[in-house]
Amino acid sequence: MSKISAAITAVFGYAPEDKLTNQDLEKMVDTNDEWILSRTGIKERRIQKEGATSDMGVKIMEGLLAKRGISPNEIDLVICTTATPDYVFPATANVICDKIGAKNAWGYDLSAACSGFIYGLTTGAQFIQTGMYKKVVVIGIDKMSSIIDYQDRATCIIFGDGGGAVLLEPNQEGLGFQDAILRSDGAGRQFLVMKAGGSAKPASRETVENREHFVYQEGKTVFKFAVTNMAETAAEVMERNNLTADDVAWLVPHQANKRIIDATADRCGMPAEKVMVNIEHYGNTTNGTIPLCLWEWEDKLKKGDKLILAAFGGGFTWGAVYLTWAY
Ligand code: UT7
Repeated sequence: MSKISAAITAVFGYAPEDKLTNQDLEKMVDTNDEWILSRTGIKERRIQKEGATSDMGVKIMEGLLAKRGISPNEIDLVICTTATPDYVFPATANVICDKIGAKNAWGYDLSAACSGFIYGLTTGAQFIQTGMYKKVVVIGIDKMSSIIDYQDRATCIIFGDGGGAVLLEPNQEGLGFQDAILRSDGAGRQFLVMKAGGSAKPASRETVENREHFVYQEGKTVFKFAVTNMAETAAEVMERNNLTADDVAWLVPHQANKRIIDATADRCGMPAEKVMVNIEHYGNTTNGTIPLCLWEWEDKLKKGDKLILAAFGGGFTWGAVYLTWAY
């Protein structure tokens, strides 16, 4: 019997309609379009005005299932990768399953900040490869606007809301998930963190007054680690699989900063025309960036295309996935 691989058989993305442009931000904090664009590559982000992360998840799941022509009851497992869950508990995956009526699925949230989607994809693929499940959904989604301090010009210019999902199914042709290099280093937690609201520092009047329920980031430090580590693991997974830039059809980088994307592409020797970049329109949607890219580029993807996905995020977490496109 040939080995079962875990292939992406459908992708769907969603970003709310409301836009927060650089011009809007100029009216809110001391910043300007030129600074934001040159330092990050971002022009606008989407903001979910009403509803929770799970509500975007529902739209994504419904789109994904309709596209593949399957019912919610056929889903075995939902892995929701998010930094902005509806609640500390229960898991947003459970909420989404309830809202779409996925009665036979179980699910869980996976917390790895901006690397969540590649962690989730790797995890989900194992359930397919072992033969345990036939239909696994990996959602990467965030309502970053719910944890952003719109008085902090160093973070509010970066993040936006949105995300996407992929359906993983067994493949007999060897297509789909091939390899991953995933890393983490908890010593980096102090540089990108939401300081309060967890068991380390439960919510109190003081934590609210100190604005500790928002994203805290030491941008320069995170930037330095991101550039090095995201680029290195992307190059490493290519080398380990004997891939040159000519072999790879697309680099799909986490969209945190256009300069980090460019550095990763350079390290991998990938020309700009083979790098998915949509940061201009969405900003950094954290867990959402990679599936949003796959969704937007789906029309250009061909069966057998080799893709390298790479990410870096809070934790620190980082890594790269090598997969082949299956349709
Ligand atoms: O996705 C998860 C991982 N996160 C990331 O990968 C983000 C990594 N970090 C970054 O992308 C960048 O560090 C930022 C975009 C956050 C900041 O860019 P930077 O080039 O590292 O700027 P900086 O923090 O070194 O600040 C440079 C200057 C400072 O002024 P002084 O000290 O030189 O006078 C800042 O106060 O720019 C100032 N500044 C701003 N000016 C206008 C900081 N934010 C702004 C702003 N508008 N929004």
